[in-house]
Amino acid sequence: MSTAAKGLAGVVAAETEMSFIDGERGVLEYVGIPIDELARNSTFEETVFLLWNRRLPTASELESFASEIRAAYGIPQRALDMINSLPDSAEPMHVLRSLISYLALEDDNPNSVDPSEVRSKAIRLLAQAPIITAAFDRKRRGVEFVAPDASLSLAGNFLYMLNGEKPTETMERALDVCLILHADHGLNASTFTSRVIISTLSDIYSALTGAVGALRGPLHGGANEGVMLMLNEIGSLDEVEPYVMGKLSRKEKIMGMGHRVYKTLDPRATYLKTLAEQLARDTNNYDLYEKSRNVEQIMEREVGAKGIYPNVDFYSATTYHCIGLRLDLFTPMFAISRISGWTGHCLEQLAAGRLIRPSAEYIGPHEQPYVPIGDRSS
Ligand code: ACO
Repeated sequence: MSTAAKGLAGVVAAETEMSFIDGERGVLEYVGIPIDELARNSTFEETVFLLWNRRLPTASELESFASEIRAAYGIPQRALDMINSLPDSAEPMHVLRSLISYLALEDDNPNSVDPSEVRSKAIRLLAQAPIITAAFDRKRRGVEFVAPDASLSLAGNFLYMLNGEKPTETMERALDVCLILHADHGLNASTFTSRVIISTLSDIYSALTGAVGALRGPLHGGANEGVMLMLNEIGSLDEVEPYVMGKLSRKEKIMGMGHRVYKTLDPRATYLKTLAEQLARDTNNYDLYEKSRNVEQIMEREVGAKGIYPNVDFYSATTYHCIGLRLDLFTPMFAISRISGWTGHCLEQLAAGRLIRPSAEYIGPHEQPYVPIGDRSS
């Protein structure tokens, strides 16, 4: 009988002071503050300060922290040239992963694990990820690069660089709230990946390159794109029921539903549901919201008893669509926010100072003969 914890479920592999999750009660807190409070009252920049410093900033601290991020808006010319040389068909998550890796080559001291240097690199990566994503999106659409605007928030600047015009307050705030909601979430797969990499005393670029790779999988951050594909596949409201029932009868998963930790509604989904409804009304996308809500209702009826409810990706799909993001920018959007959590965890891991190296239970044969190659049967 194997003693391996399948998928490491329930294994406590690190300590963190950043986010707390109670999956039974549907609670998520950043440094003790309920996520709902932060979504209502905070900004992404303030939330990052909170995660990295374990306390809310004063007004002047927030101003200087936001200025530090804004001063880092921009990417090296060679990175921009590289983006402009990529195939238009490239997937933005592959682009982001490759460019984060490339940025190590533009850093004079990429391997430093000194906490203050890692923090400076983290600020730069946080500021540069939206720029990389927007630059590639414009390049593939054949429109000129828009230089960043340091008078704008990270969310506002991203929308400005994508669209070439300043966003409305509503859209900027909606995206800012999405960034807050996605910033950190315990030891999820991509965060764990980043901690494993940095625990070898490798560099922050490698840690984040690995994390982006882990996030893009459809069982993790890639699910938000899967939700949108599903909503597009479901033609009209009356097709929702047969669609969902068909998937369940074939034992196929409904994207954006279920979670390893939450056995009730993900509190981020609760907030995003309200946001999605409001934006869907404002942008003539109410059918999308209605389809999502119907999927949710059918899932609750059919598999609610198993604890399968909407996760963060479910209503973020409608939200991102209403904000005007192209489908394959949904997961990069998640990554742009989660860089704050990944880098915060890397700093925690460096402070913890121990190589992460679990064990595997060997389940193969023992004491086998070495058969010479000529004697092996095909
Ligand atoms: N749709 C239908 N059934 C589901 C779903 C779903 N989305 N999720 C879980 N189930 C069912 C499984 O089929 C399984 O049923 P069974 O016991 O009858 O075999 C049971 O619930 C347990 O599912 P597991 O996949 O074993 O649960 P696990 O904890 O390993 O998976 C996961 C969690 C990967 C998130 C899963 O719920 C899933 O694949 N969801 C869809 C993808 C998704 O939305 N991922 C994003 C997660 S949030 C995030 O990463 C940001």
